Amino acid sequence: MKRRNLLKVIVLGDSGVGKTSLMNQYVYNKFSQQYKATIGADFVTKELQMDDKLVTLQIWDTAGQERFQSLGSAFYRGADCCVLVYDVNVQKTFESLQNWREEFLKQADPGEHEACPFVLLGNKIDTDGGSSRVVPQKKALEWCAYRGNIPYFETSAKEDYNIDEAFLCVAKIALKNE
Ligand code: GTP
Ligand code: MG
Repeated sequence: MKRRNLLKVIVLGDSGVGKTSLMNQYVYNKFSQQYKATIGADFVTKELQMDDKLVTLQIWDTAGQERFQSLGSAFYRGADCCVLVYDVNVQKTFESLQNWREEFLKQADPGEHEACPFVLLGNKIDTDGGSSRVVPQKKALEWCAYRGNIPYFETSAKEDYNIDEAFLCVAKIALKNE
């Protein structure tokens, strides 16, 4: 029997950036235009074959809206990777990233042996052929470089763009930090 690794991943970011949509596309290949706010937190799982290991990603979706947040540090405990998400068309969601990052570091308190536990996703790159974009890729890459070379992916939950690639990277980081 091969070892079965369970990797805990937490997805954080402002309300409406597409956290739930990215996970639904990744796990169920489904996308809905309709917005339904996430309340509290819930997880989905996805199995991935990585070299000789079968790993199970346990991906926790969280609420971006403050009034629906109810997560204590117990929730964050044992997290192997944190996915930060912003919307490339909304400046404020980019500016919030630092807070989400700090929240994770404070609550999950990853050990010093752990490599950088983050992956950043710039979502909704599909809209208007990119004309409504306000955060240039260069800005996001700088943000990542400045914080220990966080891997960065531009994604579209709507068009299923770059999501598998992003979560493969998430799995690699989670495995390393496990
Ligand atoms: P909270 O649960 O409140 O934290 O929001 P969320 O981050 O989970 O956002 P959600 O996935 O619910 O998406 C918000 C809205 O954006 C929905 O109407 C989605 O259809 C839309 N959306 C999500 N991803 C994309 C995308 O890649 N492209 C486009 N065009 N719309 C998207
Ligand atoms: Mg949601």
